[in-house]
Amino acid sequence: MVTRLIMVTNSIEETISFAALLNIITYTMNILILGSGGREHTFAWKIAQSPLCNSLFIAPGNAGTSLCGINVPISVNDFEAIKTFVIANEIELVVVGPEDPLVAGIHDFFLNDNYLKAIPVIGPKKDGAQLEGSKEFAKQFMVDNNIPTAAYASFTLDTLKEGLAYLDTQKTPIVLKADGLAAGKGVLICNEISEAKKELTEMLAGAKFGTASSKVVIEEFLDGIELSTFVLTDGATYKILPCAKDYKRIGDGDTGLNTGGMGAVSPVPFADESFMQKVEERIIIPTINGLRNAGINYKGFVFIGLMNVGGDPFVIEYNVRMGDPETEVVIPRIKTDLAALFLAVANGTLKDTSIETDDRTAVTVMLVSGGYPGDYAKGKIITGLDKTNGSLIFHAGTFNAKDADDIKTSGGRVIAVTSFGKTIAEAAEQSYKNAALIAYDGKYYRKDIGNDLM
Ligand code: AMP
Ligand code: GLY
Repeated sequence: MVTRLIMVTNSIEETISFAALLNIITYTMNILILGSGGREHTFAWKIAQSPLCNSLFIAPGNAGTSLCGINVPISVNDFEAIKTFVIANEIELVVVGPEDPLVAGIHDFFLNDNYLKAIPVIGPKKDGAQLEGSKEFAKQFMVDNNIPTAAYASFTLDTLKEGLAYLDTQKTPIVLKADGLAAGKGVLICNEISEAKKELTEMLAGAKFGTASSKVVIEEFLDGIELSTFVLTDGATYKILPCAKDYKRIGDGDTGLNTGGMGAVSPVPFADESFMQKVEERIIIPTINGLRNAGINYKGFVFIGLMNVGGDPFVIEYNVRMGDPETEVVIPRIKTDLAALFLAVANGTLKDTSIETDDRTAVTVMLVSGGYPGDYAKGKIITGLDKTNGSLIFHAGTFNAKDADDIKTSGGRVIAVTSFGKTIAEAAEQSYKNAALIAYDGKYYRKDIGNDLM
């Protein structure tokens, strides 16, 4: 359309002034994404396609995000540096990827600053971020709003004795959760009460997870199959995004240590219409209403980790951001302009939007560093990225080496390979074909992503 109109102009001057006019009538924004993982590369990839996006910046980003926009070497927790950058670069929308800056109050920081307060931030304020920042807050919120979740009690160092006595009344397995953020490591599932007592003591008296475990939630074990559901809200209304299944353990067949996530599938076959109706009625609506009733004007993603227990959904956890690697399958399945959705969240007009999704199945396989989630080496040269074909390659722990053209590893989770297919098997096969072409010293990945759902 634009090209055709420009073709009928007669001179360079006319073309330029026409382009200038188009810029005035076509609203565009400078957008800043905070974060550096696969989730942020996926956001950057999607937002870069939006006609609403003028310049796209990612702080600090990774080698993948540098293909979609401009990386800025600023930490997500350095609010003052972010402020300086936002003002200097006329940023008009900030999308917060990870939970840390949200729990630390980046949205409040913007609202409390005269220069920043008009700039929308996608992600809740400190009050809403407590859903992830404090397990106890989340549990109390669920109890207050009749949202199905595991029975629980919480304890501090002062009530350690009561906590140990409480454990004597519980069945195993039993779940212990550090109240605060513990980089995904603060949840322990104990098969013996004696083990749970030792862990509770270490968490409360020995500060096993630092200040995050100065309070501990003890929770009933839910036996079922897990599912990640995602909601985008502008504080008044909400849109349900495609759901996904994450593969958290390091080893095939769900064995070994917990990780940030080794792969994901979307949609999830067992999350059919009748199950999702229960999720919406029993969990999503009470969550959105509960936030509003608590006076929390929440703008951003709510990630609800669910357990399907015999066909009934129970909340395992809330996160106040998108999941990773779930984002790598959920966002590619959203056909709607993500920047437009974010603008609607900012303006409170989400109810006037609709989300169109791709019916195909997406599967992502996460390539990780050898040794992850324990100790692993960094700085390994990654090759073969240019040989991949027919998949979306989202970078997580990668960086552009300054001294060479090389892309190197910089984290535990390195690259997510996402593919579409008519079936899970077809999508997984495509991801595995490309995963095999990417090489670096110590590369490891699970070989069974999606198998349990086929
Ligand atoms: P979280 O950090 O809360 O996501 O917990 C980490 C993992 O622990 C979850 O993904 C579940 O696999 C498991 N988990 C947490 N709470 C429970 C529970 N009450 N019952 C069973 N498994 C749980
Ligand atoms: N994949 C789980 C998470 O992002 O917390």
